[in-house]
Amino acid sequence: MDKNISLKNFINNIPKAELHLHIEGTFEPELMFKIAERNKIKLKYNSVDEIHSAYKFNNLQEFLDIYYEGANVLITEQDFYDLTWEYLEKIHSQNVLHTEIFFDPQTHTDRGIEFSTVISGIHHALKDAEREFGITSKLIMSFLRHLSEEDAFDTLQQGFKFRDWIDGVGLDSSEAGNPPSKFKRVFDKARSEGFLVMAHAGEEGPAEYVWEALDLLKVQRIDHGNRSLDDEQLTRRIAEEQIALTVCPLSNLKLRVVKNLEEHPLKTMLDKGILATVNSDDPAYFGGYVTENYLETAQALNLSKEHIYQLARNSFEGSFLSSEEKSKMLERVDEYFRSQK
Ligand code: HPA
Ligand code: ZN
Repeated sequence: MDKNISLKNFINNIPKAELHLHIEGTFEPELMFKIAERNKIKLKYNSVDEIHSAYKFNNLQEFLDIYYEGANVLITEQDFYDLTWEYLEKIHSQNVLHTEIFFDPQTHTDRGIEFSTVISGIHHALKDAEREFGITSKLIMSFLRHLSEEDAFDTLQQGFKFRDWIDGVGLDSSEAGNPPSKFKRVFDKARSEGFLVMAHAGEEGPAEYVWEALDLLKVQRIDHGNRSLDDEQLTRRIAEEQIALTVCPLSNLKLRVVKNLEEHPLKTMLDKGILATVNSDDPAYFGGYVTENYLETAQALNLSKEHIYQLARNSFEGSFLSSEEKSKMLERVDEYFRSQK
């Protein structure tokens, strides 16, 4: 068989988890048009092609401006359900068995959509996918770091009403100039209430922000974390403590965190013993879901099947599944790998 087809099949079929995914970032242009139409909202684009050609970004902020604008057409619980369901159907076709997804409550509550509308749509799709596809999930509400500490506290408070549906809290949006320290007290409160904690750090911001996320926010996982490699002591700590990094190669390429995939630090991270994982971040905007992220990175960095196997194992090791659930999933990865040799 053609080497690339065989690698693609191997990647697509290996059991894996996704740990860094913004549900608003899965909004495909086709669905955006459909939902805009039923909500009688006029998009500023005339076609799917026009939307695709607008997706050219020089940095994180240029992307965020377009991403928040896209989310404006999401109004009803059904809209959030459909958005989430489409993503789950897609990852089911890529043999993702477990997903931990972010949603940004403030993107919606700030334009008058109820927190309950947003979370109900997402939650019901997640439960339906568990029943229909056997996909398990965690739901993480993420604070927008360009907004104030007070706004984040207010959002956390609203989340308490849905304590049974929300597993953790995260921190995303414009990184530079909005260090983790700004949200220390919010994260203290979230941890004391039993939420899992993680934060985007070291995507555009410096290694110092990764230190802050670990030491001040006491996060259990770092989203992105690329810039950790600028700091040897930090690199050693992340490897020793096996703090998972949820790396997003196609996002890094599209937001110019790396110049090209050949220069992506993923392989270096693995070589240094870091628990690095591969994820899609905002697949509708960056041109690929999990399989495409693994495949394009594998081709650019010459990754072997052993590397892919390691990354699939890492995706479960770095997840928030219980140790029994992890063992079961890892057994499935091992069994698949043995069957392919
Ligand atoms: N970084 C920060 N905020 C985000 C991202 C990201 O990659 N995706 C969606 N919100
Ligand atoms: Zn992200």
